[in-house]
Amino acid sequence: MAHRVRIEPVGREVPCDEKTTILEASLRRGIWLPHACTHGTCGTCKARIVEGRVDLGDASAFALMDFEREDGYALLCQARPLTDVVVEADVEIEEGVSFPAVDDYTGVVEEIASPAPNVRVLTVRIEGECAALPGQYLQFEVPGSDVRRAYSIARRLPEGRLEFHVKRSPGGLASEWIFTRLQAGDTVELSGPYGRFFLREGEGPVLFLAGGTGLAPIKAMLLALLEQNPMRPATLIFGARTEAELYDDRFLQELADVHPNLTYIPAVSDEQPHEARIALGRVDEVLRARFERLKGYQAYVAGPPPMVDACIAALYERRLFARDIYREDFYTAAEHGESVRSPLSRRGS
Ligand SMILES: Cc1cc2nc3c(=O)[nH]c(=O)nc-3n(C[C@H](O)[C@H](O)[C@H](O)COP(=O)(O)OP(=O)(O)OC[C@H]3O[C@@H](n4cnc5c(N)ncnc54)[C@H](O)[C@@H]3O)c2cc1C
Ligand code: FES
Repeated sequence: MAHRVRIEPVGREVPCDEKTTILEASLRRGIWLPHACTHGTCGTCKARIVEGRVDLGDASAFALMDFEREDGYALLCQARPLTDVVVEADVEIEEGVSFPAVDDYTGVVEEIASPAPNVRVLTVRIEGECAALPGQYLQFEVPGSDVRRAYSIARRLPEGRLEFHVKRSPGGLASEWIFTRLQAGDTVELSGPYGRFFLREGEGPVLFLAGGTGLAPIKAMLLALLEQNPMRPATLIFGARTEAELYDDRFLQELADVHPNLTYIPAVSDEQPHEARIALGRVDEVLRARFERLKGYQAYVAGPPPMVDACIAALYERRLFARDIYREDFYTAAEHGESVRSPLSRRGS
C-alpha cells in the first residue's frame, strides 16, 4: 500500500509503498535528497520524521544512534513508511547543479578485463540513456538475491557503454559474483545514478586522491575536467599497495603526457617502486610530502574509508577547508557494523 510522504522544506509529496525507502521514492520522482552510501552506513541521509511512523530498516547502530532514534531521526535510505509521513530533510541546494532522476536500467556486459589480480574492469552497454554526473554511481543487482551494490561509473564510452572498476572483496556477495560467475554477454540489472560525489565548477587547482578502485569516480571526474576545462590545473595521486595493483597506470601517464596542466603521481605503499616516477608511500603520505599548503584547492578523495579518513586529515593539516573537500567512502558490509561517525549533518561527498 502506498503512503504519502511529504518532504519539507521543499514542500513536495511522493507516493511510497512499504517496501520502498523514502530516499528511493524521492530520487525516482526527481526530488534530490542528500545521500552517499545508500546502505545505512554513512549517515548522510539522516532526517527527522516529524509526522507519521516509519520502519527504520537496516540502519547501522553507529550511523543512527539510540538517542537520534528517540529524537525521531531516520536514515532515509533505509526508512520505509508505515503511515503517511512528513520528513524534514536537510536539503542543501547547490546552485547550477541538477541531478538526474534515479531509474532502472538493463545492461549487457560487453567485456570483462583483468588489469590487476584483484581488479576487474567491466564494460556494460546500457539500454536507453543513462544520464549521470561524472563521479556518481549505479547499483548492481546481484542475481538470485535482493542485494544491490554500488559501483561508480568510471568512464562513458561511445554507444551507451559504461566502464566500472570492481575490487575483489574475498567472500563478498557482489564481487565474488563478478569475479567468478559474470561473463561477457550476461545481462545485468542496474539502477541510479546515486550520490553527490561529482565535479564542482571552479577555476582553482584540483587535487584528486584515489586509493585502489577509488580511481573509478576520480577517473570519470578527471576525464570530464580535461574535456570541459583543460586549462584548470589538476593533480592526481593514485595509490595502491604494489605496482601490479596500479591498474590504468599507463592510461593515466599518457593523459598527463599530453595535458601540461595535469600532474599524475602514482604511489605504492608496500614495495620499493621500480620507476622513479612512482612515489613510495600511502596517498596521504605522498600528499604531505608533495604539498606544503593547499589553500585555494578543491580536493576529491575516493577509496576505502580508512584511506579517505587519512587523506582528509592530511588535507586539513595542509590548511584545506572542509567546504573544499569532497569524499566518496567505498563502504562495504564489513563497515556496516563498525564505528562509523554519526554527525547529524556530515559533508558526505
Ligand atoms: C558510494 C559507493 C561507491 C562504490 N564504488 C565502488 C567502485 O567503483 N568499485 C568498487 O570496487 N567498489 C565500490 N564500492 C564498494 C562496493 O559497493 C561493495 O561494497 C564492494 O564491492 C563489496 O561488495 P561485496 O558484495 O563483494 O562484499 P560484501 O558482501 O559487502 O562484503 C564485503 C566484505 O566484508 C565481509 N563481510 C560481509 N559481512 C560482514 C560482516 N557483517 N562483518 C564483517 N565482515 C563482513 C565479506 O567477507 C567481504 O570481505 C562502492 C561503495 C559505495 C558506498
Ligand atoms: S546514504 Fe543513507 S546512510 Fe549513507
